[in-house]
Amino acid sequence: MPTDDRHDRHAGHDLLRHHGDSEVGGGLVDLAVNVRTATPPAWLRTVLAESLGGLAAYPDGAAARAAVAARHGRPPEEVLLTSGAAEAFVLLARALRPRHAVVVHPQFTEPEAALRDAGHPVDRLVLPPEAGFRLDPSALPSDADLVVVGNPTNPTSVLHPAGTLAGLTRADRVLVVDEAFADTVPGETESLAGRRDLPGLVVLRSLTKTWGLAGLRVGYVLAPAELIARLEAAQPLWPVSSPALAAAIATSAPAALAEAEAAARTTAADRAHLLARLAEFPSVRVHGEPASSFVLVELPGADKVRLRLREAGFAVRRGDTFPGLGPNWLRLAVRDRPTTDAFCAALARVL
Ligand SMILES: Cc1ncc(COP(=O)(O)O)c(C=O)c1O
Repeated sequence: MPTDDRHDRHAGHDLLRHHGDSEVGGGLVDLAVNVRTATPPAWLRTVLAESLGGLAAYPDGAAARAAVAARHGRPPEEVLLTSGAAEAFVLLARALRPRHAVVVHPQFTEPEAALRDAGHPVDRLVLPPEAGFRLDPSALPSDADLVVVGNPTNPTSVLHPAGTLAGLTRADRVLVVDEAFADTVPGETESLAGRRDLPGLVVLRSLTKTWGLAGLRVGYVLAPAELIARLEAAQPLWPVSSPALAAAIATSAPAALAEAEAAARTTAADRAHLLARLAEFPSVRVHGEPASSFVLVELPGADKVRLRLREAGFAVRRGDTFPGLGPNWLRLAVRDRPTTDAFCAALARVL
């Protein structure tokens, strides 16, 4: 059952604002941040560099909107470019007036933080590891009129079936599906990005992870036109810079989509290697079926293991700041085989 902490708005709020990027640096090998390595690719850097020539003009988002719309088979009115998916959480929190918002945890913490900042009470539906972090639709309160779920979910790496999520939509509910990592799944199999038939469906996408553009700030919302108009009204003027718009156009092109698909397949193979290596550690458990560019592990004393790993040169993401997890959890980014092997050697020494 969801836990109602509406009387304790600030409980854990600071921890909600912890992110993996604060765990890296100092020459550590980064397994804490889930941005694809060796990105952005050279061709995309060229696109960004060429966009600088137009910086004297205010950005015009029309072409990017059309490109993203075409990529997902939707009209431009159903697309809103944002300053990263993170801006979309704030826009939703400011534009909507939910009576009963439910955030499905463990998941990325910014949606809940944005809702709380806007003064909305938030219920948590915490998925248990024993069930492989799978979502049981019957556990969702029937009066929830705003539901936020990640797919695939950060940090569990669980990919919910599209049908399960589609079944949560209703005329009197906004269902926000955070698909920031959808392009790490080959074929984007469970994505709802192209579904125009589902009432109140809001899909969020990000260019941050696959394209290595965390610093550029670019993502977008896909939703019914009426909802997009409300979110747009909550946006400041010119929220997305012209280089960011150029990136949105470039990464919507067929060649870029093929490159993302190839990267997703490489990630899947590298993840299989990481999982095989982790299986060598009797104390390390993986729940559910990881499907994205990171793996969540449970191991006794993970909080102390994380500190010893840092001394051994590796940064991993602490798990305890995610609602539903605790000190025995770590999130590991999927890296290439040599990096994974070096990490597992360090883990063996540390354990
Ligand atoms: C699940 C998830 N959604 C959204 C975001 C935010 O992405 P962006 O960089 O597009 O704001 C992140 C960033 O860590 C994330 O992990």
